Amino acid sequence: MCGIVGILGQGPVAGSLVDALKRLEYRGYDSAGIATLENGKLARRRAEGKLRNLEALLREQPLNGSVGIGHTRWATHGRPTENNAHPHATDKLAVVHNGIIENFRELRDELIAKGHEFVTQTDTEAVAHLVTEAINHGLSPEQAVAISLPRLKGAFALALLFAGEDNLLIGARRGAPLAVGYGEGGEMYLGSDALALAAFTDTITYLEDGDWVILRRGSAEFRNEANEPVFRAKLKTQASAFLVDKGNYRHFMAKEIHEQPEVVARTLAHYIDFSTGTVRLPFELPFDAKKLTGLTVTACGTAYYAGLVAKYWFERFARLRVEIDVASEFRYREAPLPDEGLMIVVSQSGETADSLASLRYAKAHGQKIVGVVNVPTSTIARESDVAAPTLAGPEIGVASTKAFTCQLTVLAALAVALGRARGVLDAASEQRLVNELMVVPGLLAEALKLETGIEVLAHQLGKATDVLYLGRGTSYPLALEGALKLKEISYIHAEGYAAGELKHGPIALIDEQLPVIVIAPTDPVLEKTVSNLQEVSARGGRI
Ligand code: BG6
Repeated sequence: MCGIVGILGQGPVAGSLVDALKRLEYRGYDSAGIATLENGKLARRRAEGKLRNLEALLREQPLNGSVGIGHTRWATHGRPTENNAHPHATDKLAVVHNGIIENFRELRDELIAKGHEFVTQTDTEAVAHLVTEAINHGLSPEQAVAISLPRLKGAFALALLFAGEDNLLIGARRGAPLAVGYGEGGEMYLGSDALALAAFTDTITYLEDGDWVILRRGSAEFRNEANEPVFRAKLKTQASAFLVDKGNYRHFMAKEIHEQPEVVARTLAHYIDFSTGTVRLPFELPFDAKKLTGLTVTACGTAYYAGLVAKYWFERFARLRVEIDVASEFRYREAPLPDEGLMIVVSQSGETADSLASLRYAKAHGQKIVGVVNVPTSTIARESDVAAPTLAGPEIGVASTKAFTCQLTVLAALAVALGRARGVLDAASEQRLVNELMVVPGLLAEALKLETGIEVLAHQLGKATDVLYLGRGTSYPLALEGALKLKEISYIHAEGYAAGELKHGPIALIDEQLPVIVIAPTDPVLEKTVSNLQEVSARGGRI
């Protein structure tokens, strides 16, 4: 995921741009760059790899200028080289971009035919030349952006800086988030999330999807997709309260794993009345639970696996038919949806484009929407009928950890609440389930004490080239999530499998070399799982 920052400052901005980019490092990136205006002329510095390379370059070749844009790039179109790093520039403007311009080939061919010279392999360069073409025809930067945006297909956020325009930045948002920040003395900022701006300001405005914004010192002029002036409210963000450092941890992810007992307890307290042992949702359900005919769950990545665990709960405790799919498939499937149906969208960021598109499809097809989201100001939170917050706090690590357990916490509370409302669970069953939920933070703390032993095991597993994760019931999605984490964090190939499916193919892979991690809690399917373990050990597998 890329990161965007822009500053209309009172003094030199290069240092602040790099500082803001450092706050976006958690999103992952493989090159970085900034551009400023020096005496009205565009000047750029870009570097492959870590921000320290860009900083070293800036020490050798400093950049002046009080307006600028910056970017951390995660390569999608074109290798992560300096030449492909953002900002991309022409003689008229520089642009940074998150997301993908789907019709960039068509635009590039058209612009090459008009005499533009392309020098990178990126999709972003087409945006730079498209807006430049309009400026070359005599349009102002604002007019040029206004006529160019409707020509772009895909999901993106953009920040543009123009030659000769020392008091102008333009931002645009379609599908990927972008926020405006308001600073002291009329300083203005653009950022791909509130954390990027947290060091400068706690007053921000999120662009709505399709919006674009003209920034000048002391002013922000918002336009919607139809290019009409629109009002967008200022918000106070919590982000500055989380000017998080890593504490005693080596990585944000390690810190976030250790925060789980606390954030799960905080989330539980939001959904459960501890004194009565009942679920107490912090919102009214926007539908009659008894009349619900079906539940559709959609999400991406880890959030999808949280939804897959919850499928078992909603079916069992609320007797609801659950259809679940990854959002990148669901949004294009044109699935028929039930009358009186509910969709639950699960998302840490609340901005994942496929999840948002699925939400909109379901809404257009008459579904009520509950968004289980960690960022309360996010688009998914705002477009849901009800936002059910996970109170995990900002998750800086790219791979979701504490957000996942908080998602499970909220989904469990929702399943019990629906079970009660639908008359499936009686008061005693609700109390029993709530009592089980109440001990979760303590159990998480106990599990974290196993860290030293797990580290020893990790050193052994680190030598493996492939790992198999197995589980049944709710442990099956956990196996899938475990395999995802291992791939994403350790770059070790891993597969998650339903333990009962082992014999239908993957058993052929098992030998002395293949570590097999089995999630086997004491539950009604434990004995079945144990039989599967015997199949593994009979073939010499390392369990
Ligand atoms: C991926 C992250 O890019 O996005 C996952 O690596 C995350 O950890 C997934 O689960 C979905 O994101 P979100 O914000 O919609 O939960």
